[in-house]
This record gives sequence, structure tokens and C-alpha cells, in this order.
Amino acid sequence: MSTSWSVLRSIQNADRVSRHEVRRGTARRIVRFAVPYRRDISVFLFTVVLAAGIGVATPLLAGHVINAITAGGDGAAGAVVRLALVIAALAVADALLSLAQRWYSARIGEGIILDLRTRVFDHVQRMPLQFFARTQTGALVSRLNNDVVGAQRAFTSTLSGVVSNVIQLALTAAVMFTLSWQITALSLVLLPVFIVPARRVGKRLAEITRESYDLDAKMNATMTERFNVSGALLVKLFGRPETEASRFGERASRVRDIGVQQAMYSRTFFVAMLLVASLAQALTYGLGGWLAVHGNVSAGTVVTLALLLTRLYGPLTALSNVRVDVMSALVSFDRVFEVLSLEPGIAEKPGAVAVPAGSGRIEFRDVRFRYPSADQVSLASLEDVSTLDRTEQEEVLTGLDFTVEPGQMVALVGPSGAGKSTTSMLVSRVYDVTGGAVLIGGVDVRDATLESLRDTVGVVTQDSHLFHETIAENLRYARPGATEEQMWEALTGARIAALVRALPDGLDTVVGERGYRFSGGEKQRLAIARLLLKQPSIVILDEATAHLDSESEAAVQRALATALRGRTALVIAHRLSTIREADQILVLEKGRIVERGRHDDLVAAGGLYASLYRTQFTEAVI
Ligand SMILES: Nc1ncnc2c1ncn2[C@@H]1O[C@H](COP(=O)(O)OP(=O)(O)O)[C@@H](O)[C@H]1O
Ligand SMILES: [Mg+2]
Repeated sequence: MSTSWSVLRSIQNADRVSRHEVRRGTARRIVRFAVPYRRDISVFLFTVVLAAGIGVATPLLAGHVINAITAGGDGAAGAVVRLALVIAALAVADALLSLAQRWYSARIGEGIILDLRTRVFDHVQRMPLQFFARTQTGALVSRLNNDVVGAQRAFTSTLSGVVSNVIQLALTAAVMFTLSWQITALSLVLLPVFIVPARRVGKRLAEITRESYDLDAKMNATMTERFNVSGALLVKLFGRPETEASRFGERASRVRDIGVQQAMYSRTFFVAMLLVASLAQALTYGLGGWLAVHGNVSAGTVVTLALLLTRLYGPLTALSNVRVDVMSALVSFDRVFEVLSLEPGIAEKPGAVAVPAGSGRIEFRDVRFRYPSADQVSLASLEDVSTLDRTEQEEVLTGLDFTVEPGQMVALVGPSGAGKSTTSMLVSRVYDVTGGAVLIGGVDVRDATLESLRDTVGVVTQDSHLFHETIAENLRYARPGATEEQMWEALTGARIAALVRALPDGLDTVVGERGYRFSGGEKQRLAIARLLLKQPSIVILDEATAHLDSESEAAVQRALATALRGRTALVIAHRLSTIREADQILVLEKGRIVERGRHDDLVAAGGLYASLYRTQFTEAVI
């Protein structure tokens, strides 16, 4: 029955396959993935051939048993027993072979899954930030799970399916035709009677399966939308639960209808297949029996033919769909390769040099930057759109020139959208400049090793992220070897040690949705502790206190004071107190520096800074 399943699946896949074009070179890439498994694959194919041989040998032996019985005579009983023993031995061998086959196909399949998964994961995490902003996380995760598994399944099932079916078919047909070409030819006449309607059923099945996927997705969307707090509130306020229920009910009942149809179509498929095979068998008994009675063939031959017949129909139907099987393997692999072919954004140059330890000088030389366009960083299939935007993005930074000397604090101010955050991301090389250069300690960041860059530059943004792990693990993310003592020191510097000490699990408290919920200010202070642990010589703050109420803001400000002490700082701030202290203020507007200087001079100049000073900067809370 397993062949029928795979036939059904490939018919269902036909639809998916026909809508996807496989790129050139996919087959060659698949082969490259299979190469490490060539030994396993050879052993596997060898077991397949052996099993096919046993599959033909057993019916032949059964025929001999019948012939020995009908012939009678002295040696008959002994011969029958010997034959039966051989059949038994073959059965045991077949069972062992089947285990071996599964072992090898599982090893090959799971091995390929492992290779693909780790490759895709590693590749995706190196993608530019823009990629994550654009793609739907769900689509990405499903690419890592479903498509990788699909590719593997298609690979192993094609490998074992095609090879074993071809071998089985060739052997069986050869033996059958040798035994009696008339009976064999006649019994094959029925085959088209099965295959033609089976394809039609398969097509219909593919259609309703797709419809049920769509409906499922819609029901899920409705539930997630309506069953969150704000959705539920809206339903209550507008009081339309009946409408909601009936809409949902309509979709759910269509899913029920499809479920029933699906069940019937697939059962019809199996029943038809069994029926045709049984009819062909009956034909063999009838015609073969008639020939046997007239002495044209032996009784054993008829039995052998009838038994072999069942081994002929399965492979034949399966092979009639081989193209679809092979294509769906190619499609799954192609979808995975598509992700692997995306250019990773930032990579280390061969021969990169380390930024001198403790470097504190940042230099922007005529820096220009535009964000990459959609087609450079993303895949249409991951964004659920048919084509990606190719138009070049506007230049966001249009020639920035400035230097932050070691130990200085420089403040970046400017209206929203001026390019402040973008500027800060170029220092830590989240993106690469599209013109000019950013230098740290005299080294172009593009020539620097990524590790030395990460050690030198520490960043705190508006909403610092903490992983859903323990506090200690989150801290050690910045410095894997940190001792408890060092962690406590960092926490103290960030003014959060008392709070962590008061937690029942201390440093082992799990952070996040299902762990301990830190408030915004506490999270920022943990992020600052993480930064302190890293001890970078350059600190970048991007509105690190923007989302906080004034009380937590005061605490975070105190933590930041520790973080900035003795370090070079590039600070995007809206607090007057911070800005006033800056050694230099850079006023950014539309991607260029329009004013620079110290607070008093800029206010006196009466330009953009002066107007921002009047309207946007808030008074310090400390
Ligand atoms: N990921 C992005 N992709 C494309 N454009 C972006 C992206 N992030 C920011 N921008 C654009 O770049 C400009 C500068 O943004 P940003 O540096 O965030 O400004 P600021 O931090 O000064 O408010 C804005 O016009 C913004 O729309
Ligand atoms: Mg910003």
C-alpha cells in the first residue's frame, strides 16, 4: 500500500510543481549535497536490488512447489519441504534487508536534513538586518522546517522509489514474459483502465487540498486576530459575536465538506487500485488455468504469474508519476537553495586586520549610504509578494564628515528621519557604507575583523532585546567567559544588582514572556550591564531612554553615566542634560550635517538646533 500512498502524494504535488520553475544547476547542487553519503547510498541501492530479487524469487519458488505437488512421485514431499525452507530463508533475508534499507535511507535522509538545516540557519543569521525587516518570520521558519524536510523526503523517496520500482518492474516483467507472454500481455491490458481515472481523481484531490489549506490559514488568521485582547475588546464593544460566529462557522463547515470529499477520493483511489489488480489476477487465473488445463502451461506457472502480477501494478503506477516525484524533489531543494543563494550582507574580508585594542577614534569620511533595495536582500516567496521592488532607495546619508576623538562624547541630534540611527549602525557595521568610509582607530571597518569590531563597539538602542534565557546567559552573550563576580560588577555598574539579588533565582532567573518580566527601564539597565561586561572602548547610544517613564529614565541615566565614563561615545539623545555635556553636537537634517558646535554657540546661531532646542528637547530629570 505504501506505493499507492506515494503515487497519491505525487499526483497532489503535480499542481505545486507545475506552478514553480526550477532554476538551472539545482540538480548539480543536490548531487553535491549527496556526495558525502555516496557510501551509504551505494549500500542502500545494493539492498534495494537484493530485495527486488527476493521479491521475484519467492513467487517462482511457489510455482515450483505447485509443480512438485502436481507432479507427485517419490521425491515430491522432500522437494516441497526443501522449497518451503528456502522460501522461509528468503522471507527472513527480506525482513533483514528491509530493516537495513530503512536504516540507510533514514541515515541518508536525516543527514541531508541536518546539513541543509545548519547551512540555512547559519546563512540566514548572516543576512543583512534589512532581510529580517522584510521577511515574514513564519515564512522563514517554514522554509527551515517544511521545505528542508520536504527536500529530504523527496530525495530519499525518489531515490528508493524510482530505483526500486524500476528494478522490480524490469525483473518482474522479464520473468513474467519468459513464463508466458500471452497471459502477461493480457493482464497488462487493464492497466490504463486504472491509471487514467486515477490521475483525474488525483487532480481533484489536489484542488480541494489546496482549498482546505487556504481555509485553514484563514481560520487561523481569524482566531489569532479575534482572540487577542484588543480584538476581543473590539468584538465586545461593537457587539457582533453572532456575525463573527457565523462567518467562522461557514469556513469551518466548508472544511468539514472537504474533509469528507478528501476521505472519499483517496479511498476511491485505493479501492480502484486494489480492484484492478485483483481483476487482473482473476484474469490470470482464468486464462492461465484454461491454458494449464489444456496442458499449454504448468499449474505452477499460473500461480507464479498471479503472484508476480501484484508486484507489477504498484511499480507501474508509481513510475507513471516519476516525473512529478523528481520535479517535487527539485522544487523543494530549489526553495532551500534560493535562501542559500542570497548574498550575506556583511562578511569579513580575507586578510582582515584587528582594530587596535582600546581604539577610541571614530572617523566618518564623506560617508554616503542608501539602504539596499528589496530585491538585493530578500526573496519574493518569503514576503508573500510576486515580485520584489527593484527601484533604488533614496540616499539616506549624503556625505557625512566628522571625527570623534578618543574619550570624547559627540551628540547626534536632528528631526526624526534625519539619519541618526542609520549613522550609528554604520559604526558597528550593521550595514556597510555605499560611499566614503568609516574608520575606527584608523582602520576602515570593512577591513577590520568582525570580532575586534564587536569587542570595540558597544551599542544600546531604544528597546534592548533580551533572549528568553537566564540573566547570566544573557550577560554571557557579551562575554562568554565572564565569572559571577564580573557579572555582579557589571550589574552594580548598571544599577540593577539590587533588583537581581532580590530575585529568588538571582542570576539564574529566566528573562522574558514566560520568565520574569522586567520593566522597560530594568531591561535597559540589564542591556547596559551586558555592555559593561564587554568593556567596549566605544559606546553608541540610540535614544536609550526614549520609551521610559521619568522615574526609570533617571535610573537608566545613572547607569549610562557609568557606561560612558572614560569611553568614546556617540550619543543620539533628546535630553538636554546629555546634549549640553557633549564635546561636540552634530545637527543632522536629511542625511547631512547642517550645524556643528557646542550647545551655547548653536543656540546663539539661531538655526535648526535652536529651534529643536525650543520644541523637542526635554528637560533633564536629573
Ligand atoms: N531599514 C530601512 N530601510 C529603508 N529605509 C530606512 C530603513 N531605516 C530607516 N530608513 C529611512 O532612512 C531615513 C533615516 O532613518 P533613521 O536613520 O532611522 O532616522 P532617525 O534615527 O534620525 O530618526 C528615513 O527616511 C527612514 O525612512
Ligand atoms: Mg532613530
